Amino acid sequence: EKGGYDHFMIKEIYEQPKAIKDTLSPRINKDNVIKLDDIKITKEELEKINRVYIIACGTAYHAGLLGKVLIEKYVKIPVIADVASEFRYGSPFIDENTLMIVVSQSGETADTLAALRLAKKNNAKVYAVTNVVGSTISREADEVFYTWAGPEIAVASTKAYTTQLVSMALIALDMAVKKGTIDKKEYDKVLNELRGLSEKAQRILDNTELIKKASEKIYKAQSVFFIGRGIDYDVAREGSLKLKEISYIHSEAMAAGELKHGTIALIEEGTPVIAIATQERLYDKMLSNIKEVKARGAYVIALTKQGNEEIEKTADTVIYIPDVVDELTSVLSVIPLQLLAYYVAVMRGCDVDKPRNLAKSVTVE
Ligand code: M6R
Repeated sequence: EKGGYDHFMIKEIYEQPKAIKDTLSPRINKDNVIKLDDIKITKEELEKINRVYIIACGTAYHAGLLGKVLIEKYVKIPVIADVASEFRYGSPFIDENTLMIVVSQSGETADTLAALRLAKKNNAKVYAVTNVVGSTISREADEVFYTWAGPEIAVASTKAYTTQLVSMALIALDMAVKKGTIDKKEYDKVLNELRGLSEKAQRILDNTELIKKASEKIYKAQSVFFIGRGIDYDVAREGSLKLKEISYIHSEAMAAGELKHGTIALIEEGTPVIAIATQERLYDKMLSNIKEVKARGAYVIALTKQGNEEIEKTADTVIYIPDVVDELTSVLSVIPLQLLAYYVAVMRGCDVDKPRNLAKSVTVE
């Protein structure tokens, strides 16, 4: 059932090119038109919406963070992304002009479901992005968008995340087209890049030597820091979660610009820092942050796009992802981070597919 792989997690990591393709291709026709049959919201309904909440837990929340970036950028509506357990006990502003997008692989997560019910009770419209057909969340939402990742067995979520990311892009672009808030050139650029993701993901998976070597450098660490800015910070959070949940190494993700406000005090000789630097307009800022941690003795593994070779002067190891538009980097940059977490956990002899204290689906509070 593991198809020749040692664990479900690594099998599912390798299924990502197919999962991405299966999620995208039925929804994009050859003329670059997005058709989301599963989301039937009209232009009029969409025009009334003045606030979006994206609510989820864990990895699904990290995918939701990309939804915030893309909807704000392309649809020009303010978006609040929050974890469900915080959102539902806060004082959210929900009315009939609110759209809530819940993201849940299982479609059964208790807090996410409660957030959905709260939104519906207050007359908001709810979209669900889920991987399980017929799940409770899919039944209760107004509109359902399925990630076609196939069953995800490993507790650590991998292919669900990458398909949630591309779903966020499709939903944001569809809304933007309906509202007329994106120009054609930008739209075509992002769509063409979406089409190329599956093949680029495969390229990363075909060449894992460097990632294995990096894993050897960090598997004995006490603590690992992930830093990034913008979308890279969001993916840093996902990389950090992956590492801690399956390898039990303490890890923390930091917005790189926040380091000097506290966390840099923890960097000492040999502390591993994974620096994600894929965003063009933030690249120089990241280089400075890498220098800051290097000066305190950090061992830096940098993750950047092909073409950014000068980072090799500063970082100890550099892992490259294929070139891709900045808005979609996380679909690719997360893959080396998933592999890193996996190799480290295996080297440490951990129960990769069933990490201690965790359940695949958190159906109780
Ligand atoms: O089924 P869901 O997407 O609602 O699950 C949410 C989280 O429990 C889940 O993503 C969790 O964080 C994973 N173990 C992360 O790998």
